Amino acid sequence: MKIYVDSADIAEIQNGLDLGLCDGVTTNPTLIAKTGKSMTTAIEDICNIVEGDVHAEVLSLDAEGIYKEGKEYASIASNIVVKIPMCHEGLKAVKRFADEGIKTNVTLIFSTSQAILAAKAGATNVCPFVGRLDDISIPGNELINEIATVFNNYPTMTAEIIVASIRNPLHVVEPAMAGAHIFTIPAGVLKQMENHPLTDKGIAAFLQDAKKFV
Ligand code: G3P
Repeated sequence: MKIYVDSADIAEIQNGLDLGLCDGVTTNPTLIAKTGKSMTTAIEDICNIVEGDVHAEVLSLDAEGIYKEGKEYASIASNIVVKIPMCHEGLKAVKRFADEGIKTNVTLIFSTSQAILAAKAGATNVCPFVGRLDDISIPGNELINEIATVFNNYPTMTAEIIVASIRNPLHVVEPAMAGAHIFTIPAGVLKQMENHPLTDKGIAAFLQDAKKFV
């Protein structure tokens, strides 16, 4: 199991690194925009502190444009993974990157059929968005279950599932039970996962009783 930080914020990423909970980082245009930096600067700054995979998402939607943009990002550092939205042109670019040994992550996956095609095209990762499905009352974890079942049926299907769009701890626990490989977690959800009211209550009680030590 791997935990990535789903952020382009250096402080949030460093917090994950300090906890040993940052095997990699995923970004997307929304997260990059929040930094106020250029795409290249934001990705360079992340690669300066992260040794694991750093996912940089392309904006182009034609195969040639995706390839050119992805090659630019891949030239920033050796740990760059080119993140490509699921689409016909994107699959063509994935195949080209796979032939060149450049890692890719096909993102914005919302169906098992999309995940199958992305994996067959040669994607290193497929990235289903559980939170956005739950947001429209479609059980996101059922998608993870289906993709994991299909991938487990075919050992040569080496693509790893990155669970994304994680809104709460159950978006980690349930996909983990289904056998997902990687969880890209926002800083706030990492914090939620640490805490439990009974733990807090127990610590307070122990400290209170410790005052009675002779
Ligand atoms: O970064 C990809 C994914 O985690 C986006 O999540 O919350 O925008 O659906 P969200």
